[in-house]
Amino acid sequence: MTSNLETQLLALREEGEKAIAAADTLESLEELRVKYLGKKGSLSVLLGGMGKLPAEERPKIGAVANTVKEALQTSLDRQRTALEAAKIQAQLEAETLDVTMPGIYYPQGRVHPINGMIDRALDIFVGMGYTVASGPEMETDYYNFEALNTPPDHPARDMQDTFYLPDGNLLRTHTSSVQIRYMENEEPPIRIVAPGRVYRRDNVDATHAAVFHQIELLAIDEGLTFTDLKGTIKVFLQAMFGELPIRFRASYFPFTEPSAEVDLQWNGRWLEVMGCGMVDPNVLKAVGYDPEIYTGFAAGFGVERFAMVLHQLDDIRRVYASDLRFLRQF
Ligand code: DAH
Repeated sequence: MTSNLETQLLALREEGEKAIAAADTLESLEELRVKYLGKKGSLSVLLGGMGKLPAEERPKIGAVANTVKEALQTSLDRQRTALEAAKIQAQLEAETLDVTMPGIYYPQGRVHPINGMIDRALDIFVGMGYTVASGPEMETDYYNFEALNTPPDHPARDMQDTFYLPDGNLLRTHTSSVQIRYMENEEPPIRIVAPGRVYRRDNVDATHAAVFHQIELLAIDEGLTFTDLKGTIKVFLQAMFGELPIRFRASYFPFTEPSAEVDLQWNGRWLEVMGCGMVDPNVLKAVGYDPEIYTGFAAGFGVERFAMVLHQLDDIRRVYASDLRFLRQF
């Protein structure tokens, strides 16, 4: 009986050590631990038979059982350490970075020259306390013309022929419509810049496009004068082009009175760069502002025009052609 139990214990040890040494994952190792040393494992089952032994034999068998248990535990620990090390090693090898391999090429996008120009202009105005505003490209006749003091029979409409939609709406000819929309929803003081796409029924050539971009400027407050307009435009143009001579030339726009064109001396020639003026009292009345209390100034300029001057472009169509040889230069 004694020798039988002892033999069984020693056999268990041999079998267990072999199985543990052969375990190739931490999961199967854990299964073996449960199988041999767990509460209901083989060792417990064997020791359950101890009670039937004569009292004097129990200490001896107990001692054997202990050595078997320790031996199995030692094997488990050793195998666990080995498997963990192997796992880390495999991970290191899998994650090795070969810096001599050719990289994967991701073509890098860049800002289109028109958007770059808009960003630059907005930055300057935001620096002067202006807020960026926007409005729809499809407009009603009211916002594009009438509210801007340009009734249906007004001759100034001839210069801004556009695309009319079947429902009577139109594609806006300028960003000035944003002035009206903004003023309708806000109260003075107002300082906004509004960039956006505009449309004209123009014949396309080197300096004209049927779709182009403008940036509108509007300031309304108590006591604003032409001096404020001049100062603002000057700061803006000098931030944009550098310290170049500029001049204000009397002009006409239905929505400003007085109105002016601004010229910039560029490479020895005077270049017309923007239209501006003091907001016409009729425009203020159209949005319910009292022109006896509020005055303001407005300006509008073409983004493509600025880009052509600054980047010395010979043809406006280049900025729409999506020719990478051209676009990569910016
Ligand atoms: N809307 C005018 C155009 O497209 C440009 C312009 C002129 C805007 C004078 C203004 C302004 O705000 O005051 O030709």
